[in-house]
Amino acid sequence: MIATLDRVAGRLAAASPEKLPDTLVPAGDEVCNYEYSYEDLFSERLRAASQPVTHLQVPLPPEYVNMSPAALDARIAAAKAALGTRLTILGHHYQRDAIIKFADARGDSFKLSQFAAERHESEYIVFCGVHFMAESADILSAPHQKVILPNMAAGCSMADMAPTDEVLDCWAQLADFFGPDHGIVPVTYMNSGAALKAFCGKNGGIVCTSSNARAVIEWALERGKKILFFPDQHLGRNTALAMGFSLEDTALWTPGKDLGGNADDALERATFILWKGHCSVHGRFKPEQVHEAHRRYPNVKVVVHPECVREVVALADCNGSTEYIIKVVTESPAGSVWAIGTEINLVNRLQKEQPDKTIFCLDPVICPCSTMYRIHPAYLAWALDNLVEDRSVNQIKVDGEVARWALVALERMLAIK
Ligand code: 13P
Ligand code: SF4
Repeated sequence: MIATLDRVAGRLAAASPEKLPDTLVPAGDEVCNYEYSYEDLFSERLRAASQPVTHLQVPLPPEYVNMSPAALDARIAAAKAALGTRLTILGHHYQRDAIIKFADARGDSFKLSQFAAERHESEYIVFCGVHFMAESADILSAPHQKVILPNMAAGCSMADMAPTDEVLDCWAQLADFFGPDHGIVPVTYMNSGAALKAFCGKNGGIVCTSSNARAVIEWALERGKKILFFPDQHLGRNTALAMGFSLEDTALWTPGKDLGGNADDALERATFILWKGHCSVHGRFKPEQVHEAHRRYPNVKVVVHPECVREVVALADCNGSTEYIIKVVTESPAGSVWAIGTEINLVNRLQKEQPDKTIFCLDPVICPCSTMYRIHPAYLAWALDNLVEDRSVNQIKVDGEVARWALVALERMLAIK
């Protein structure tokens, strides 16, 4: 699968003018079907149906597919100029250079959510990132603002690993096992759908990002005895270990199994119940790659994202969010050597922007986040051209009770300093 994606990325990089392979443009005429109510989400109907949420992108008009990179740049620049202060483009650090150069603000998922919560001037927020980020921006933005995701198919495989029916089944099993006063606080990583954030908000829980996971878990442990952490087992485990807990204080919850596949005593002992989710991009980093970096460069420093497995995090000099990785490398002296364990667009950009340092990706095989990569300039140009014509294509809208409770969980996070 990854090899296929690498080939796709390679083809994209090599093509001139850049063509959009069909594999990045899912067929179908349905834009998005996620506008369900909270009641729907938590109803027997949805549990029984257990359908994955689909976010399908309408095919781009052919003129955009066939446009050269230079022509796309010109279209985006013209639309930006026409929209002026009515538009803000936000870009996550994993976006390609051809997108990030148009971003009014770039950041990690925490910084971008703060931006959406605090900056209410522009009418349109065009979010160059993935679906869960745009959803959070919509929940945090003001009612007069519209959030646009240029390509609806830009999802996150990790966020899809905690579907509502499995979350509710887990919650019901835990209530049966520990009793109604179980004192378990649900915490979800930002990389999750709005429904899971709403679930956490409604049940005394909270959202975290990779930049504040420790502070959020401290908040949660002041309010309960145990943490149920969604959906990234690695961020949960790495944070627990960094806080001084041991592996015996954690249990892994495999969805669909009785007690998540745990023995009674393991579950009783655990302070952290970690949902079995992961990021396939960060799952590529291996301890041997850290050893190889040290072999090639004895003075290398290794920095990785906490979505990597604990064995890699343990060998690294430091770990943190994308914003942290950029900061620590940028603040290092000229001549420093850095091996980085995160997505390739970020690493390549650091390499280009800081030629006085040796910067490389821990994984020698290029590892883009294939869904972040779906924000191609053609989609951005198409979305902006539509806004110029007062048509909001690909608006991300979270309504009703889902938005209300997800906002509770997000605001709890933003209130933590
Ligand atoms: P950051 O919040 O560190 O930017 O991480 C987002 C993400 O999706 C990492 O895979
Ligand atoms: Fe999701 Fe991983 Fe991509 Fe981040 S890098 S958006 S966690 S798939």
